[in-house]
Amino acid sequence: MPGERVLVTGASGQLGAALTAALRRDLGGDAVVATDLRDPELPESLGDGPFERVDILSRDELRRIIERNRIDSVYHMAALKSAEAESRREAAWNVNVNGLYNVLDSMRSRPGAKLLFPSSIAAFGPAGGDPVSLYGVTKRTGEMLCGFFRDRFDLDTRALRLPGVLWPAFEIGGGGLTDFAAEIFHEANAHGRYESYLEARTELELIYLPDALDAMRALMDAPADRLRRSGAYAIRAFSASPESLADKIRETIPSFSLEVRVDEARQRMAQSLPTGVDDSAAREDWGFEPDYTLKRTATDMIERLVGKR
Ligand SMILES: NC(=O)c1ccc[n+]([C@@H]2O[C@H](COP(=O)([O-])OP(=O)(O)OC[C@H]3O[C@@H](n4cnc5c(N)ncnc54)[C@H](O)[C@@H]3O)[C@@H](O)[C@H]2O)c1
Repeated sequence: MPGERVLVTGASGQLGAALTAALRRDLGGDAVVATDLRDPELPESLGDGPFERVDILSRDELRRIIERNRIDSVYHMAALKSAEAESRREAAWNVNVNGLYNVLDSMRSRPGAKLLFPSSIAAFGPAGGDPVSLYGVTKRTGEMLCGFFRDRFDLDTRALRLPGVLWPAFEIGGGGLTDFAAEIFHEANAHGRYESYLEARTELELIYLPDALDAMRALMDAPADRLRRSGAYAIRAFSASPESLADKIRETIPSFSLEVRVDEARQRMAQSLPTGVDDSAAREDWGFEPDYTLKRTATDMIERLVGKR
């Protein structure tokens, strides 16, 4: 929104950097304060504007930055993601839950301020039950914490359950559950083959970065009276398996070969997540409508990666 003053936490991360750049293009560089625990690897990828090193575990630092910059909206992207959360459980709980608590508590000094919480498809559990991964547990807890601060302190919190986000420039090899979707394109381009850690037909929900950014901003820009007061909005764009991505790749690289060596832990986690998530609430309330199908995403990934050969 014009005149809005925005804080992005986790701005050196994959989504945070792209989101910061998009917000700066529309609102102006100085209107968007980017923060992270670490400096960005490519500072230019965030666009021009202020950057501050801030640890979300320090509530005093957060409060100071929110008040000094008269922040109206926070995009809270700082977190430890799935693979890291499973190996650094206590740190993940601290950053994902206590860090979110600190951000929400610091926002109480800015009545009417809005917060976007990027939850994850990992917050779903098997057959509609509880999540099985610690990452999923922190995301579900985060959604509830957002609801608590909204009801008790009248903060305008908005939670979005994102599928795995795909983009050619994202780092690969991080051990995340949906990493196969990016790795397969990189490996196809570099070596003509890919060894998948998931069984070939295991489907997971994915979304292309431009649609994920548009969704976060559309939910934040939606009038409050159009939004449901409870829970998180789930969205979906398309689902894909190693095999369906391999089929798309073979349209450009016919000799591409897919091999499988299952990582049992990730396979179990993948099987606990739903596909075909119901996103009708997001479509009805704030007009969610992704542009990128599996076919269009695959074509764009291949064009961008092969173009870099
Ligand atoms: N990338 C995806 O596919 C995906 C899917 C669903 C949800 N999400 C959520 O979206 C958000 C952003 O994801 P991403 O892919 O950009 O993650 P990322 O790991 O690339 O970035 C997270 C950032 O948080 C920062 N951070 C960690 N601890 C911090 C602390 N104590 N203080 C300040 N900053 C800290 C890290 O330095 C990093 O730059 C996360 O909440 C993630 O759970 C991502």
